[in-house]
Amino acid sequence: MHESVLLTESIQYLNLNPKSIIVDCTLGYAGHSSHILKQIKEGYLYAFDQDKDAIKEAEKKLKEIGNNYEIINTNFVNLKEEINKRIDKVDGILFDLGVSSPQLDEAERGFSFHKDAKLDMRMNRNQPLNAYDIVNNYPLEKLTKIFQTYGEEKYSLSIARGIVKARENKKIETTLELAEIIKENVTEKYRRMGHPARKVFQAIRIEVNDELNVFEKALKDALDLINVGGRVCVITFHSLEDKICKKIFNEVSSIPKELQNLPIIPDEYKPKYKIIANIKPTNEEIEKNNRSRSARLRVIERVM
Ligand SMILES: C[S@@+](CC[C@H](N)C(=O)[O-])C[C@H]1O[C@@H](n2cnc3c(N)ncnc32)[C@H](O)[C@@H]1O
Repeated sequence: MHESVLLTESIQYLNLNPKSIIVDCTLGYAGHSSHILKQIKEGYLYAFDQDKDAIKEAEKKLKEIGNNYEIINTNFVNLKEEINKRIDKVDGILFDLGVSSPQLDEAERGFSFHKDAKLDMRMNRNQPLNAYDIVNNYPLEKLTKIFQTYGEEKYSLSIARGIVKARENKKIETTLELAEIIKENVTEKYRRMGHPARKVFQAIRIEVNDELNVFEKALKDALDLINVGGRVCVITFHSLEDKICKKIFNEVSSIPKELQNLPIIPDEYKPKYKIIANIKPTNEEIEKNNRSRSARLRVIERVM
């Protein structure tokens, strides 16, 4: 079961009305989308997901609510192109990033360092690059760099060295083999501070799915697709995604530095967007759903 994070808050900030045209970029198990669909009886929902398994389950839920929706089975990097084939502008766009609980729970997807499976981690199982290729073929420098940048892992170099050494003897095939190599290449003290494989697994997943580049492009496109008065809501689960969101939202909602001292700001330099919210889950939600502990919701509105 997937328990949606910041559900009430994100739906409330989307400012839905019965005629709203909404895009859910991360349909997943339709936790958010089913709430949206219930409130837009005369509107329309476009929902993206690149995972066919998630879509199958989501479809069952949405069918029960209405037929004013379309599921688009592609990466949300294609957001603008796909939406513009259908419509010019929309009233709200939601991103609820990352993987869903069922994706993590299904051992065979290879996302979890607790469950033995082939190294995979692809959200879209039709793409060629997977975790096995990265772990067994990337050179030492590239492994170190992704562990540093995408995992913020302080033992990046020693873990990458451990991987390169291990694969000289035999290919690294499974999640647990990899988790063991990681464990062997960090200090005893570090092992006691949470699972030592967590950050490296996150880094490999981001690399497999090119998550940060894809998100940055899609977020910029989302801002272009929004009508005046419409909102973009983003739920992130780690600091790297949140940094991208914060930077883009700050850029588009502020007056360029060199113009800030002008007595009158010409219309074309006035920001087109206004930041509406930046919130974290309540303690109550974190207690009920541990996955929400690192979540953050940022909301921006188009004002002109
Ligand atoms: C956290 S889940 C969304 C859960 C959903 N909001 C709910 O409440 O049921 C994220 C979903 O987005 C999908 N996803 C992640 N990145 C994607 C991308 N770049 N393009 C399309 N779908 C993506 C994943 O496959 C996953 O199903």
